[in-house]
Amino acid sequence: MANNLLAGKKGIIFGALDEKSIAWKTALKCHEQGAQIVLSNAPVALRMGEINKLAEMIGAPVIGADVTNMDDLKKLFEESQAHFGGKIDFVLHSIGMGINVRKGKHYTEMNYEWHQKTLDISATSLHRVLRTAWDMDALSEWGSVVALSYIAAQRVFPDYNEMADAKALLESITRSFGYHYGVRNKVRVNTVSQSPTRTTAGSGVKGFDAFVDYAEKMSPLGNALAEDCANYCVFLFSDLSRYITMQNLFHDGGFSFTGVSEAIVAGMTPPAE
Ligand code: NAI
Repeated sequence: MANNLLAGKKGIIFGALDEKSIAWKTALKCHEQGAQIVLSNAPVALRMGEINKLAEMIGAPVIGADVTNMDDLKKLFEESQAHFGGKIDFVLHSIGMGINVRKGKHYTEMNYEWHQKTLDISATSLHRVLRTAWDMDALSEWGSVVALSYIAAQRVFPDYNEMADAKALLESITRSFGYHYGVRNKVRVNTVSQSPTRTTAGSGVKGFDAFVDYAEKMSPLGNALAEDCANYCVFLFSDLSRYITMQNLFHDGGFSFTGVSEAIVAGMTPPAE
């Protein structure tokens, strides 16, 4: 289904680890819609080598950057602009890492140094990316930046742990920087709040399978697939969404506005005698 929605557009996509990654699927869709892409990920992720397959499929260079390192980000934006021969039209921030989550620390017992690192990688990094682009004036007018979030920013999902704090900060940075970048360059900044999705980052959450099943039953349309999330990102990068900015946009099959579903109630009702 190629409509050339992104013909002539140039973008940086962060976070394609393997073919399950939301960023991987988004890179494929953007390419299908006519965009030119630079792929980026942390040096440790690049060593896995998977990203080279994607790079080959879409003819994109891979430029490593630890998203917590300003020098890496500056180099990434410089090299991307040199590659494209001009400014960047869109950026996907598809990055998350919970250190306390990974080390099995309960929310009430978190290690604060790890928490700082979690917030830096998963949320402040969006500020770092926007700041780098801002200082270099690297984004085109009406450019579009999208980061991925989760509804734990608004509601409690106990096992989502410190990542809830990270997502709340990510959404706040989206609004605050979105304001300034909108005024200066008409650049748009939004988060997409995605259904639970089976990826490497997703599966790191305790009890993830139950999480996915519950959300599936609670969502009138069922859980949104990674591929559909990729389509939504294409729309947000395109000129069809020019006046959408500073928003947290739920892409979750209706989960966020459902109080309870018949499927959940049926699962709780004891069988009739
Ligand atoms: P993923 O594991 O494929 O992607 C996470 C990416 O973050 C990886 O490519 C990893 O290398 C990158 N990353 C980690 N530390 C980094 C650093 N210091 N510098 C640069 N990159 C770094 O998993 P997924 O699910 O595709 O995650 C993408 C985004 O979607 C994350 O923000 C995640 O929180 C969000 N999300 C995921 C959901 C899910 O259920 N999988 C649901 C809602 C949002």
